[in-house]
Amino acid sequence: MKKNINAIILAAGKGTRMKSEQPKVLHEILGKTLLGYVLDAVNKTDLIEKSFVIVGHQAEDVSKFVTENYKTASTVLQSPQLGTGHAVSMVCPELENFEGEILILCGDAPLITEETLKKFIEFHKNKKSDLTVMSTVYENPTNYGRIIRDGDNLTAIVEEKDASPAQKKIKEVNAGIYCLNWQKIKPVFSKLTNNNSQGEYYLTDIISWGVKCDFNINVYLLEDNEEVLGINSKADLAEATKLLNQKTINKHLENGVMIVDPVTTWISADTQIGSDTVIYPSVYVTGKNKIGKNCHIGPFAHIRGGVELGDNVKIGNFVEVKKSKIASNTNACHLTYIGDSEIGSDVNVGAGTITANYNHFTKAKSKTVIKNGASIGSNSVLVAPVEIGEQAVIGAGTVVTKNVENKALAVARVPMKIIENYVKS
Ligand code: UD1
Ligand code: MG
Repeated sequence: MKKNINAIILAAGKGTRMKSEQPKVLHEILGKTLLGYVLDAVNKTDLIEKSFVIVGHQAEDVSKFVTENYKTASTVLQSPQLGTGHAVSMVCPELENFEGEILILCGDAPLITEETLKKFIEFHKNKKSDLTVMSTVYENPTNYGRIIRDGDNLTAIVEEKDASPAQKKIKEVNAGIYCLNWQKIKPVFSKLTNNNSQGEYYLTDIISWGVKCDFNINVYLLEDNEEVLGINSKADLAEATKLLNQKTINKHLENGVMIVDPVTTWISADTQIGSDTVIYPSVYVTGKNKIGKNCHIGPFAHIRGGVELGDNVKIGNFVEVKKSKIASNTNACHLTYIGDSEIGSDVNVGAGTITANYNHFTKAKSKTVIKNGASIGSNSVLVAPVEIGEQAVIGAGTVVTKNVENKALAVARVPMKIIENYVKS
């Protein structure tokens, strides 16, 4: 069914205040890029037909990220980057004949949720609005555009750098999310000027234009100001990471996951965890993962994304797991690296086991398979690609370079000698 709403996501800016070689929107929070959060929230609403991501600064990297990960999104180049209003105008040719609503978001505000976007769009539709702006209130509104009202009516948005001392005191700010009746608002983009302190074409100037044209303009005031935190510096990035983590941890605690120390535990938003699992202090979980019920994770464990754990799995201290499936009742309790692996149920992975998955010269990653019931002795290296059969036993200290049959013992070590009276005294 045609949804009649498209999204424009602004992601072309340099992000000067990040002081980074990397494009701002590709900075990550717990393994996912800022732009990824925004695109995921948009897609999860299930209301958006297509997203246009405006790219400019390091356009190649940002475009690659979008096209590799999001089928419903395409990129539009803005070069040079002359401001947020200029950025949106880049899509005008593509949307020449589009009739419907346009949702605009900033790629640097990753904490927005699909629930809020849905309510925002519904509000816009119920009000039969031509132009709806999302606002919120910050005790410290520095750096945000201020919402200027005449009575209840929005009359303009004034940027921090253009604001008078009186305007700077206003705590209601522009969240950077807008919904437009495209056919009505589109002509405004050709009228924007760059007559302001930054010499930029501001998107926010569509408000004062809309007022002049007597359009139906509305403000949607968002109570939870944390959702629209814009990331402009590394300090903002650290704050957003902390806020998102707290929300994620609270959700898991409500769902019956025990998190012993919420302060030192980091869990990505895309990690599912079953009830009665216990997460011990100083655990760091990034990317997309699925952890079963009644598992014990940590203390000091690192789960790096693409990890699926069954029920009753133990991942203990100083264990790192990446892109691996581990079935129920398997333990890897101490000092282990498991990467690109598939491990069956009832396996014991001894302390100090390493899956050697990476060829430094070819950059190739290879897979380790460990079948049900196998026992991997401590300090073993499993050189991938390699397969360990069901109930096979790997002797402690073995470097495994060949597949091991079911129920076989593989052991490779220099025979131990005892030299008596070695110490002369
Ligand atoms: C912007 C808003 C401000 C709002 C704040 C919310 C304007 C003029 N100001 O300010 O009112 O309170 O967001 O977070 O819109 N970008 C482009 N092309 C450009 C310039 C920017 O695509 O030429 C993109 C950036 O990559 C970024 C987004 O637009 O994702 C916002 O730009 P940014 O420079 O961060 O604007 P703010 O100062 O945060
Ligand atoms: Mg910003």
